[in-house]
Amino acid sequence: MIKACIFDLDGVIVDTAVYHYRAWKQLAHELGFGFTEQQNEQLKGVSRVRSLELILGWGGVTKSPAEQTELATRKNQWYVDMINRMEPSEILPGAQEFLKIIRQAGIKTALGSASKNSSIILERLGLLPLFDAVVDGNHVTASKPDPEVFLKGAEALQVNPADCVVFEDAIAGVQAAKAGNMKVVGIGSPEVLSEADLVIRGLHEMTLAQLQALDTGADN
Ligand code: G6P
Ligand code: MG
Repeated sequence: MIKACIFDLDGVIVDTAVYHYRAWKQLAHELGFGFTEQQNEQLKGVSRVRSLELILGWGGVTKSPAEQTELATRKNQWYVDMINRMEPSEILPGAQEFLKIIRQAGIKTALGSASKNSSIILERLGLLPLFDAVVDGNHVTASKPDPEVFLKGAEALQVNPADCVVFEDAIAGVQAAKAGNMKVVGIGSPEVLSEADLVIRGLHEMTLAQLQALDTGADN
């Protein structure tokens, strides 16, 4: 029986990729190389530290660990300045409505995000009361595709992983959910998220009936 839903943040609840892109592009510019939207796509679901490593590699630049920490901090300050100005209109279509529908149906909700800034975003957009638990980059040591973030979410909700459905827009996130023995709904293209149990374009397309249909009924 489906008892809980765990949501990725970026690309599922809000579209922050554009802000990550602007901040990383500014950093790349200061370091003397370019940064494209295609490269930004590859950073979805990837932690801040790992993203910087990839970007420095693409730019052919080597930095010491201390310099990398400083660069990641600088990028994050620009990013936080931008997300602090986000408006509720930037919540992705159907996200708030779907959260409310499932909560009314008695299904628990958790956030499972790689971001260390998730609380800022949820508070700013008034979404925090719609989550029973928030697990993010501040609480995990292993990045997606490791299932840690989702398993911690299930644990916080006291729900068996097999009774959880994850909503994810990144391939690594879909893999993480599968590795955690959870059902997964991909948000995006079926070609890219082929490992998901169901793929939709956004939460505006998701219904309670579709969610319940994901249940294999094994433990009913
Ligand atoms: C999400 C985004 C990534 C981002 C990561 C860390 O997974 O999709 O693009 O790098 O969170 O975000 P943070 O806010 O901690 O820098
Ligand atoms: Mg995402």
